[in-house]
Amino acid sequence: MNYNLTHTQPEYIVQQLTLTRPDDWHLHLRDGALMQSVVQDTARQFARAIVMPNLKSPIIATAQALAYRARILAALPVGARFEPLMTLYLTDNTTAQEIQRARQSGVIHAVKLYPAGATTNSDAGVTDMRKAYPALEEMQRYGMPLLVHGEVTDPKVDVFDREAVFIEQVMSPLLADMPQLRVVFEHITTQDAVQFVTSAPNHIAATITAHHLLYNRNAMFSGGMRPHYYCLPVLKREGHRKALGKAASSGNPKFFLGTDSAPHEQHTKESACGCAGIYTAHAAIELYAEAFEQLNALDKLEGFASFYGADYYRLPRNTDQITLRKESWQVPDSLAFGEHRLVPLRAGEKMNWKMGG
Ligand code: DOR
Ligand code: ZN
Repeated sequence: MNYNLTHTQPEYIVQQLTLTRPDDWHLHLRDGALMQSVVQDTARQFARAIVMPNLKSPIIATAQALAYRARILAALPVGARFEPLMTLYLTDNTTAQEIQRARQSGVIHAVKLYPAGATTNSDAGVTDMRKAYPALEEMQRYGMPLLVHGEVTDPKVDVFDREAVFIEQVMSPLLADMPQLRVVFEHITTQDAVQFVTSAPNHIAATITAHHLLYNRNAMFSGGMRPHYYCLPVLKREGHRKALGKAASSGNPKFFLGTDSAPHEQHTKESACGCAGIYTAHAAIELYAEAFEQLNALDKLEGFASFYGADYYRLPRNTDQITLRKESWQVPDSLAFGEHRLVPLRAGEKMNWKMGG
């Protein structure tokens, strides 16, 4: 990683940053025409991405994942070099044989657990962890990571507590039963999850989004209801945001980049019952650079964004580089999304880092 510094008394300000090309270890690409309009945003910045399987018709079988992968590759702009890393959607009925097929495919890198009803397109998710044990045991045997949406779905549990309660009621018992299972606790949002992952064995890791590093829950309510800041797990209070920043910038390889960029049509978010999801793929690495700069930890960005995820997934690190410059630019008010529009994070606002090329 290289810096270009400007000397402005009494501090040095980083003006340019060159780092190994990053990967996104948690991404929603959707499908069809919708995917076509967002995939280039990710491919411009990242070499690879772990692609979530929560399509309207979820990716529950290896054959579906292979077909989805082919559609992603076909949707890429000419000349783009981007590798989609596929996942399977775990259900109550996922068999050990399906896990074997996934492993043998060579292109399925993980299996995603959505507790049924936890979020967008999660109705086919797991209703009772024990039902998924045959599949999970097979994954444990082969070292295939389980990617966890870590929230309980009990409506009696306060929405801001669902991650902490999940650790206690689901994650801890699961790891007690399967101590060798490799688990990525996805898009963590709380100090509780930071602590849990930090003190767990090395095969337990976590992804952290840019929006959870940059915003706390006030963002959803500043001057009115702001649906474009609504995602799941929901933004938490400032103390939790600070804990995430500390973890991301600690240099601990258990914590790595996963945007959870989740596009929704504008009208489905600006609605009486708005969808959960924040779109960040248009400016992902720039948003992370801003977060790490605020943390005074730009020197820790490359490990978090470009090394630790690849190491965890036992894939080679990328060898090419990207360059970010300190340069002000304005995010458009909205972006094309199939026949509709989507409102990205920072719409109409300024960014202060810009990726070159
Ligand atoms: O905010 C979210 N959006 N959280 C999720 O877990 C799913 C995602 C989506 O698919 O829209
Ligand atoms: Zn997600």
